[in-house]
Order: sequence, then C-alpha cells, then structure tokens
Amino acid sequence: MSSTHAPPGARPGRRPRPSSAAGARLLWGGCDTTHLARRYGTPLYLLDEDMVRERCRAYRRGLEAHYPGPSRVVYAAKALLTADLCRLVAQEGLWLDATSGGELTLARASGFDPARVLMHGNNKTTAEMRLALRMGVGRLVVDSLWEMDELEAAAASLGRIQPVMLRVAPGVDAPTHAYLRTGQAEGKFGLPLEGGAAAAAVDRAAASPWLKLTGIHAHVGSQLVTLEPLLESARRLIDFSAWAAARLKAPLDEINLGGGLGIRYTDEAPPPVDELCRSLGQAVASGLRSRGLPLLTLMVEPGRSIVGEAGLTLYTVGGTKETPGGLAFLSVDGGMGDNPRPALYGARYRAVLANRAAEPPTRRYQVVGRYCEGDLLIADCPLPEARPGDILAVFATGAYHHAMASNYNLVPRPALVALSGGRPRLSVRRETYRDLLRREAGLSRPWQRRRRTASATRT
Ligand code: LLP
Repeated sequence: MSSTHAPPGARPGRRPRPSSAAGARLLWGGCDTTHLARRYGTPLYLLDEDMVRERCRAYRRGLEAHYPGPSRVVYAAKALLTADLCRLVAQEGLWLDATSGGELTLARASGFDPARVLMHGNNKTTAEMRLALRMGVGRLVVDSLWEMDELEAAAASLGRIQPVMLRVAPGVDAPTHAYLRTGQAEGKFGLPLEGGAAAAAVDRAAASPWLKLTGIHAHVGSQLVTLEPLLESARRLIDFSAWAAARLKAPLDEINLGGGLGIRYTDEAPPPVDELCRSLGQAVASGLRSRGLPLLTLMVEPGRSIVGEAGLTLYTVGGTKETPGGLAFLSVDGGMGDNPRPALYGARYRAVLANRAAEPPTRRYQVVGRYCEGDLLIADCPLPEARPGDILAVFATGAYHHAMASNYNLVPRPALVALSGGRPRLSVRRETYRDLLRREAGLSRPWQRRRRTASATRT
C-alpha cells in the first residue's frame, strides 16, 4: 500500500465530495484509487495484476527451487476467474483448476489450452463431464465411485481415453472455519483413504479401458495459516501412492496436494509462499524416496494466495449514524451482494478512507452495507471521522468476492478493473438493469422487439 498527494479538486457530484486537500490518497497497483472510484463508479473491485503475476512466479520458483522432481502449479479458478486472468495465468505457465461448465466455458472462450485444465467437483453433471471430455481437459479429478461409472460411460461413448486423478479424503481435520474444511474422512468430498473406498477406486480405474489413472489428489481446506495439515496430508498421500504402486506394479505419475494457503485479512500470519514450497517440496521428496518411489510430479492448486491480497474493493460512503446506545454505523453502497464472506464465515477485514489515507483513525465504526438485513461488512473499523462521499477501500478482496457476488435485492454486480504497470483496464464491466431483466421469461422485452424490428428492416 502507498499513497500520493491529492491531485486537483473533485468534480461536483450528487453527494458532497470530500476535500482533496485533506491529505494523501491511497494508491493501488500504482493508480490513484479515488480517481478510479470516480471514473468507474462504486462499488468497484480492483485487482493488482502485477502482484498476481508475482504470486504465480513465487509458486513456480518455489517448487522449482525446493523440489528436485517435476512440479506444476494449478490456479484454482473458483477464487476468481475473468478472461483477463485466464490469459495471465496461461502467460505465467500455470494450469487451471475449473469446477463447473461455466468456468470451463470461460477458460475456453479466453483461449486457455484445455490440455492444461484440471476439472474438479463432487457432483459434476453428465453435461459438464461431456463438455470436459469434448474439450479435452488435461485431468478430470474423480470424486466418487459412482462418478467413475458415469465418467467411464461418457468417455466410452465419445471414444476418448481420459486421464484422471482420484480425489481422496485423507482424514485430516484442518484447523480453519468448518465450512472451509474438506479433508476429513466424514466429509462430502473425495474417496476416504480409511475404509477402502480409495483403494477400490484405484482398482476400478486401473481396470477401465477409458480412464488413465495419473495420480492422487487431496485438498484439506482453505485459509490455512499453518502448514501442518498439508504436511500430514502429503504423508498420507505418499503412503497411499506407495500402496497403489505395489498394487499396480508401477508408480503413478502425479501427487496433487490441493490449495489452501491462507492470506492476511487483518492480523493473520500465514507462512509465505516460498516457505510452503520449501516445506512441501522437501517433505514430498524425502517421503517418496523413503518409500522407494520415483519423484512424482508434485502439483499444488492455490487460489486465494494467488489473487486474494491483490484485490481491493472501493465503496462510496453514504453517511453515518449514531445510535442512542452509542453505536456508530457507516453505510456504504455495497455489502453482502459483492462480499458475502462476513455473513457466511464471520470474515474480518481492514479498511481505510482511500481519499484521506494519511489521516489517522480517530474513532471506530461498524461498516454496514445496503442490503435488506444487518449486512455487517466490518464489525469494528478504525477510521477518521467519515463524511458522505468518502471512498472506503477494503483490503484483501481478490479471492472469493467477485466469484461469489450475487444479485440480492436486484443490485447489479460491480465492475472489476485490472491494474497493470500503473494503468487501469476494465476487465469485467458493471452489470446493468438490462442484464438483470434479461432472464425474465415473463417480461415482454421492448429492447429485443426493437432489435428484431431493426434487423427485419435491414434484411
Ligand atoms: N483445490 C480445491 C479442490 C478446492 O476445493 C479449493 C478451494 C482450492 C483448490 C483452492 O483453495 P485456496 O487456495 O483458494 O484456499 N468460499 C470460501 C473458500 C472456499 C474454498 C473452496 N475450495 C471463502 O470465501 O473463503
């Protein structure tokens, strides 16, 4: 974060503008955020692409430096996916983890090589499996025995031999929010190592003429601030890979430890990317060697730690309210529609006034959104005395914000502006009211009629 002294005064607007002489302004990705708020409107998602690239490189460099075998970094698209980001990820040499037909379709439309796409999901539809097969995705990660039956039938009907990984539930209870924990045996994801389902799946895949088993996958959870759950999962996957190698009389090719590295929202202190790569790289290399296995391709699937801290959301302050009981509310023009994470996970955030970034906090606010319920965005936010028209900047909103936004209260979703080399570029435009009406089968659509008439006139 850095700030710069205020350029020329604000243009007149609907709301009173803050005085630009009051202090310094927040820069993000080398751009003046107050200026971006005026130019693109608020709420507005910003993404510092230079930081995203740096994170992609940190993962690739880290694995190359600390793991003596081949490695592969797979970006988890569910954290944030735009056409621009697909291209960036491809340029940085990462693979892409997609979880739905929608993500596959955007990846394909952006020109992402399907051979470098890996498809996840605990209940992929038949249509999604067929789409993935037809596109030629590089890996399909099988989550259950029943899914394997269906996948095999689809592959056979399309005459395609599909490389697959098996997602296992390693039985690791990661210390994170219960909704973000996915490696336990008693969970919906994956084939439990315990009880024989994962072993049965190895036999089943090996017997199939249409599936080519390449390796084992596990993802134990998200927003992890220690590496121990990942290391424990790695140990269990290595043991299982050793069992599979003995069973199949040949080692598998790959071991995928999933994503999960946490980021700093307020006061968390997750290990840096390089430390994760060092710990996992060394542990996997020595674990494989001690089991007499070759150095399999080591895969990781980070999402949040690639894009999370590169994101910033800008809101315009509508006003403040002091209650008789002494509470101070600050209302902004977004909320749970663009960020459902406080409501879902009790997530906490840091924020500053972007247009007065150098002023020290003098009081504490509850930052509330515009949606029709409590919609508490930040429960306790130290700020200077806020005024209508100030720009509130909330940090660490790159992952699972744009991706999880909704149209609650029929509020259009924000635009996303990418910042690169100190320049802004519209990456996703703001939704319009027309976008919102488009799916209403019960409306006559005057604009469609007009378009039809226009084209009828042309022909
Ligand atoms: N691989 C698999 C199979 C996953 O399920 C996930 C995330 C990842 C990789 C990437 O994990 P990351 O590196 O981003 O932690 N909506 C929640 C997060 C859900 C994560 C789901 N799976 C949130 O807002 O915190």
